[in-house]
Amino acid sequence: MYNILDTIRNRRTTRSFTDEIIKEEELMTLLEAGRYAPSGHNDQPWFFTVIQNYEMIKDLNEKSKKTLNPNDEFVNELLARSNHDLFYGARTVIIVSYNDEAVSQIEGVSAATQNICLQAEAMGIGTCWNGLVKRALGEVYRDELTEKYNIPEGHTPYFAIAVGYIKNKNTSKIERKGHYFEIIK
Ligand SMILES: Cc1cc2nc3c(=O)[nH]c(=O)nc-3n(C[C@H](O)[C@H](O)[C@H](O)COP(=O)(O)O)c2cc1C
Repeated sequence: MYNILDTIRNRRTTRSFTDEIIKEEELMTLLEAGRYAPSGHNDQPWFFTVIQNYEMIKDLNEKSKKTLNPNDEFVNELLARSNHDLFYGARTVIIVSYNDEAVSQIEGVSAATQNICLQAEAMGIGTCWNGLVKRALGEVYRDELTEKYNIPEGHTPYFAIAVGYIKNKNTSKIERKGHYFEIIK
């Protein structure tokens, strides 16, 4: 039996990256993990756009912040923690887009994103699944950014994943729900 449960349990969101860019072969392994995700109707709705241009990452950070709700307590807490960098210093950001024709779009890109995060954990690489880019990528700056990032026609950019080597390990305690299943026989 493979022991993937340790990888699942050990994975934590990284919110502090070094400024070193991950190796190309490591990046390719992460993308391969994304590619092997399950998808409704086997649509494989994902397209990965890897941004390693730091000016572009900073620009996406600024644009994304402009689209956030300032009255949202969770958002404000995150912004304070990240010193206003939604990507926490990561020098690789993977934008995950879905094919507009796919049956299970969000499910597909979510499965692919989780595969990438787990594979990264197994390789000692940090990731932060980022949902706060959604409005900037998919609505407010959509035309400008899809052109800039060469997102394929008929695709909607939806998530980003910040990827890099871990500077400070996330050691915060997370309470996992105790009552989370029931077995009916
Ligand atoms: C759909 C989704 C969107 C998320 N967006 C963000 C985000 O924008 N910024 C961030 O710091 N963490 C983000 N996270 C990470 C969660 O905050 C994190 O997974 C959760 O707090 C549990 O912590 P853990 O990943 O360390 O177990 C996101 C997670 C998911 C699944």
